[in-house]
Amino acid sequence: MDIFEALKVSHEVQRDLSGKLIETSGDTSERREIFALLKNELFAHAVAEDRYFYIPLMMTDSGLNITRHALSEHHAMDEILESLTETDFSHSRWLVLAKKLFETVHHHLQEEEHRFFQQAGKILDDNQKRILAKKYQAEYKKYKAKHKDVLIG
Ligand SMILES: [Fe+2]
Ligand SMILES: [Fe+2]
Repeated sequence: MDIFEALKVSHEVQRDLSGKLIETSGDTSERREIFALLKNELFAHAVAEDRYFYIPLMMTDSGLNITRHALSEHHAMDEILESLTETDFSHSRWLVLAKKLFETVHHHLQEEEHRFFQQAGKILDDNQKRILAKKYQAEYKKYKAKHKDVLIG
């Protein structure tokens, strides 16, 4: 498996969960469960993707701009997740924010899969693509078992 195939596994989970999230209504256990799963998925994926995909790319001249762009979108998703966590789950604004998250996630994945991966494909060699896949998977697994607050030092 190469790094692109490894990243796409989580992308499919993100698409599925963000789609399910906007089908929920009110402060229900279903909404809370799907939100917790999506929040953890986005967290573990972003930590591992930042460290074992974007950082190596950032070290190259042709990878610098796509990396900056992607990291700023990761930050934007983080902020929407924060707003959702702080908003009353039964408030109508919650669904507005969830739809914003859905659109941001879909836009970001589309851009990664159709633009950034093509560019990264030219920057990384086959060996790097395999090694990064392994490192990404180990990091992803590690952070799936953790809460976002572990990052607060
Ligand atoms: Fe991704
Ligand atoms: Fe990403």
